[in-house]
Amino acid sequence: MEKTLLIIKPDGVQRGLVGRILARVEKKGFKISAMKLEKISKEKAEVHYAEHKGKGFYLELLEFITSSPCVLAVIEGKNVIEGLRKMAGKTNPLEADIGTIRGDFAVVVSQNIVHTSDGIESSKREIENFFKNEEIQEHILCTEQWTYGR
Ligand code: RTP
Ligand code: MG
Repeated sequence: MEKTLLIIKPDGVQRGLVGRILARVEKKGFKISAMKLEKISKEKAEVHYAEHKGKGFYLELLEFITSSPCVLAVIEGKNVIEGLRKMAGKTNPLEADIGTIRGDFAVVVSQNIVHTSDGIESSKREIENFFKNEEIQEHILCTEQWTYGR
């Protein structure tokens, strides 16, 4: 099934939002297939945010994402990439709908609580950057038949 990378960024961890964010993911019906707490290295951050190199906010973004531990998680489910992007809300919390993670918990774009992959290719690349294959559990939840039907 489709997989995506969820990062609860340093602001989300420091503000004690990990449990509430993961509860939303689980409540939706998505599955945690891998998870760890990690202070992201500068090297991994550069790979992760390569598409933004040269932009005005790039250096600030690297400094922020490496400043303190993040929760890194592989989340699995049907259409999970689009589903989790919708749950995260628009990049700028000011534009994010109430009811989304950014709309409910964040105020400014540089501290917007979560990252989620934006497509199939980027999800593969991003998961590979942070997880070895053996760290990802291929497991079936007993609730899946009730989430997806038979
Ligand atoms: P993310 O990659 O973190 O999931 O966020 P996104 O797809 O919604 O947004 P993206 O365009 O990929 O931007 C990556 C992160 O850079 C920060 N940003 N700051 N100061 C600014 O104008 C600005 N623009 C983007 C945000 O923290 C955004 O999540
Ligand atoms: Mg992005």
